[in-house]
Amino acid sequence: MAAIGSAVGLGNIWRFPYVAYKNGGGAFLIPYFVALFTVGIPLLIAEYSVGSMFRKSAPMAMRSIHRKVEWVGWWGVFSAFLIAIYYSVLMAWCLCYLFHSFGLVWQPDASSFFFNDFLKAGTSLSLGGGINMQIVFALLAIWTSIYLILYKGVKSIGKVVAITVPLPTILLLILTVRGLTLPGASMGLEFYLAPDFSKLSMPSVWLAAYAQIFFSLSLAQGIMIVYASFLKKGSDINNNAFITALADGGTAFLAGFAVFAVLGYLAYQTGMPMEEVAGGGIGLAFITYPTAIAKMPILASFFGVIFFMALLTFGIDSAFSMVEAITNGMKDKFGVSREKITLIICIMGFLLGLLLVPGSGIHWIEIMDHFVSNFALVFIGLLECLVFGYVLGGERIRKYANDVSDIRVGRWFSIMLKLFAPIVLISIAAASLVELMVNGYGNYPSWSILLAGMIVAASFITAIVFARLKCREEQ
Ligand code: PHE
Repeated sequence: MAAIGSAVGLGNIWRFPYVAYKNGGGAFLIPYFVALFTVGIPLLIAEYSVGSMFRKSAPMAMRSIHRKVEWVGWWGVFSAFLIAIYYSVLMAWCLCYLFHSFGLVWQPDASSFFFNDFLKAGTSLSLGGGINMQIVFALLAIWTSIYLILYKGVKSIGKVVAITVPLPTILLLILTVRGLTLPGASMGLEFYLAPDFSKLSMPSVWLAAYAQIFFSLSLAQGIMIVYASFLKKGSDINNNAFITALADGGTAFLAGFAVFAVLGYLAYQTGMPMEEVAGGGIGLAFITYPTAIAKMPILASFFGVIFFMALLTFGIDSAFSMVEAITNGMKDKFGVSREKITLIICIMGFLLGLLLVPGSGIHWIEIMDHFVSNFALVFIGLLECLVFGYVLGGERIRKYANDVSDIRVGRWFSIMLKLFAPIVLISIAAASLVELMVNGYGNYPSWSILLAGMIVAASFITAIVFARLKCREEQ
């Protein structure tokens, strides 16, 4: 349940629809499901097996596989922390919007409200612009909740996920039914599901699909490894992997209906074509969706509250899972107490998150999200496939997982892990790197891209340093 909670999050409701939208709408579903079956599920089985085999967090599990690869585990958990920094800011926005839903205050122009009144955003990327204290307090509330849920350990996590997994699923179903019964919904769905095959020839679309799978299944960041390390010996692995993956993919697919049906309604109401109503980008959940909600004939505020409540409750277990990965890494390696390290990480997460609160933050969130998920996660995923496939042994993992599982995976599993996934990941990463060099990223200046690259590089170097530090037993 906690693993599903980690997987299903803002990635499904906020990220998936906007990434799908950017990459050809319905056409994106093809690479998405290909990525789910060729890399998502095999790597999930491998991460669960490694966690359950070594019963340690990612860095130390990697160390048990081979001393020289401990850094891969650290790089994963540091990337999770980087994501946690902006993820919590997004959640803070959701919390503010939850309250704004009561008065539908973003009317009449949700875009101007979002940028000018709420974010106080300028167009510049440099720090500055106004600071909305609401967001600061909301961010504090989010990090405080993460701390309170985590400091006691896995028992309280169990209690929290028993509520925060089913509840938002019900909320999402309510939104979907509401969306589908609005006029114009079919237009939105047609846009969502009608494939534009020409997009499939672009490597960046495939990269986006693989990146979305890594992000959405919380792979390559040590999260699934540490959660599996808490499983009882002999727990079914393959079944859990399939359930997690399908619950995650299913929720994203469902969220697509809830989002695109409502966008269709907006197109119908405003007479604009589908391509134009959603500006794409991360504003989808904060501009387009609220605009559509405000136009609903009845109970508009109610549906606003439901939407942001769903985002928050879906998001919270993803947010704390990222923290869990890094705190357990530190605890295992240096023997620090759980309470202390959780507190330190939460305070750091809050302080670093403050950098993203001023007006320019939204651009940095978009840049960070793009680079950490598209490049760091894909790269760490690739390293994991190699370490698991060759150093630990794909067949060994397969045997381990099959011995405890009802569903047995065939040899395809090792082939995916050892050959298919590495080849695909290397080629799309290389092709996209070339595309990035040639075309840049969006309208962002190259210095901002360089800075994002440096942040990713810094997490890599820190990972190497941490792997070289002595661990508790050696001190
Ligand atoms: N999987 C989460 C989501 O889809 C996000 C996440 C990313 C969680 C990285 C943990 C680590 O929202």
